[in-house]
Amino acid sequence: MRKTSEIIWQDAQHQVLFEILDLIKDSRADEEVLNRLKDYTENHFALEERYMQELGFPGMAEHIESHDRFRKEIDQLMGHAEAWDDQFREIIATFLTEWLTRHVFGIDKELETFIYHCDIR
Ligand SMILES: [Fe+2]
Ligand SMILES: [Fe+2]
Repeated sequence: MRKTSEIIWQDAQHQVLFEILDLIKDSRADEEVLNRLKDYTENHFALEERYMQELGFPGMAEHIESHDRFRKEIDQLMGHAEAWDDQFREIIATFLTEWLTRHVFGIDKELETFIYHCDIR
């Protein structure tokens, strides 16, 4: 659990999340993409939250709150199949990508650094 090499999963999963978000812009994309995003996001968040819990990450509450906001955004987008035109796709892809970028390069980096330092103690 604490081996440095294991934190590579975090970057790899973020990469997949950005790839799924790119798919939303495709004109053939439908709610299926959102289902994929929801499933993958849930697995990813759950894994980060497990690490935070097991390692006693001090920023855990704030980080989980941030995940919960994203979970809520995705839930709110579900069930609006009638709105899936190019403009809608563009708006949600941009919004979710901006959110994820801020999260991944901000709060997730703090977690990554924490996990890294847990490795060497
Ligand atoms: Fe993450
Ligand atoms: Fe996170």
